[in-house]
Amino acid sequence: MADSPVMGEYFVILALENGVQVIGLTRGPETKFHHAEKLDRGEVMIAQFTDHTSAIKVRGKAVLYTKHGVVRTDDLGSGGPTAGR
Ligand code: TRP
Repeated sequence: MADSPVMGEYFVILALENGVQVIGLTRGPETKFHHAEKLDRGEVMIAQFTDHTSAIKVRGKAVLYTKHGVVRTDDLGSGGPTAGR
């Protein structure tokens, strides 16, 4: 993490349907689910990568805004991960 977890990178998730899950995966030698946040349609979560969270997994229809660009989970094929930049 950039010195302190508070300085960790942020990402934004906009749920496009009810029941979207944002699953946090642990940092370190054991990769485990540690939290599943449920979002309903129109709800937005803004979160960070931290000392505890090195990865996330998103289930359901959502738009993810990251420093790598914008990704729609239902955009399979047309344009790939840079679509929407
Ligand atoms: N307690 C978690 C942490 O500090 C909270 C959290 C941060 C989280 N980012 C997340 C949970 C992303 C799920 C997904 O790491």
